[in-house]
Amino acid sequence: MKFKVSILLIFGFLIGSASSSNLCISKTLSFCQYGFNQNLNVTSTTADWTNPGTLSFIIRSYYLQGIDGLLSVCNARQQFAQCLGDQYDSCMSKLNFIASGESPEDAQAYVQLFRTMEFDCDGGFIQSSRNWPCIAAVLQTKEDMLNQCRQTYNDALKKDPSSLCQSSADYETCYRHFFFTTCGPEVSWWACERTRRGLSIDTDCPMDTCSLVASGVSSGDATSSEGVQKVFEMKTNAALVMRQLAAGKH
Ligand SMILES: *[C@@H]1O[C@H](CO)[C@@H](O)[C@H](O)[C@H]1NC(C)=O
Repeated sequence: MKFKVSILLIFGFLIGSASSSNLCISKTLSFCQYGFNQNLNVTSTTADWTNPGTLSFIIRSYYLQGIDGLLSVCNARQQFAQCLGDQYDSCMSKLNFIASGESPEDAQAYVQLFRTMEFDCDGGFIQSSRNWPCIAAVLQTKEDMLNQCRQTYNDALKKDPSSLCQSSADYETCYRHFFFTTCGPEVSWWACERTRRGLSIDTDCPMDTCSLVASGVSSGDATSSEGVQKVFEMKTNAALVMRQLAAGKH
């Protein structure tokens, strides 16, 4: 398994290097990061991939300000993604940063932060925006427990890198639990999916998916769950979801 993951990484790296349209140009990335930081009034000159903890702290402080804080982050992220254009995906790959000398931990943390924001602001935006007060409350009051979920994941991976898929699934279950108990099944799904997207494991763990109701947790009101499920099934197409939501209003 360890071998297979390495092969996948090397293969992905070669593909990434071979196609010029898939290169992450570091000058462009620096420029776009500068714009992102300006939009969030970040004055620290080292709040970038060399210091993902600083960036993460700043974004979290916006998140805890409530929905306006979320919108500020999403606005900055949107401009960042537009700034990178078709370099976005290759820049949001930890291999890019490892290749340029960052530690695997920093590379992972930086990419995870931006992939998580991408979900909060894009794929999961409907759920983020309508549940933000509850989400922000859990982020604040359950911080230690949520950090413990991540620590357990990091420790498990360090001990056995081949446990990636199981450790990721355990992380998702651990993380979503705190959102389920406070905010209910929709936010529990949101928390699982945001964790999964943050880990960028689509290629390595294609079987890992986030169900609306976590296994082992009894389902609540079946009819309302079905309604939510219908919206979730369309989550990859935000425009359709918007239209469906708008259609449901009259
Ligand atoms: C950044 O600072 C300016 C000037 O103080 C303020 O108008 C703006 O709202 C701030 N931006 C954010 C995202 O808080």
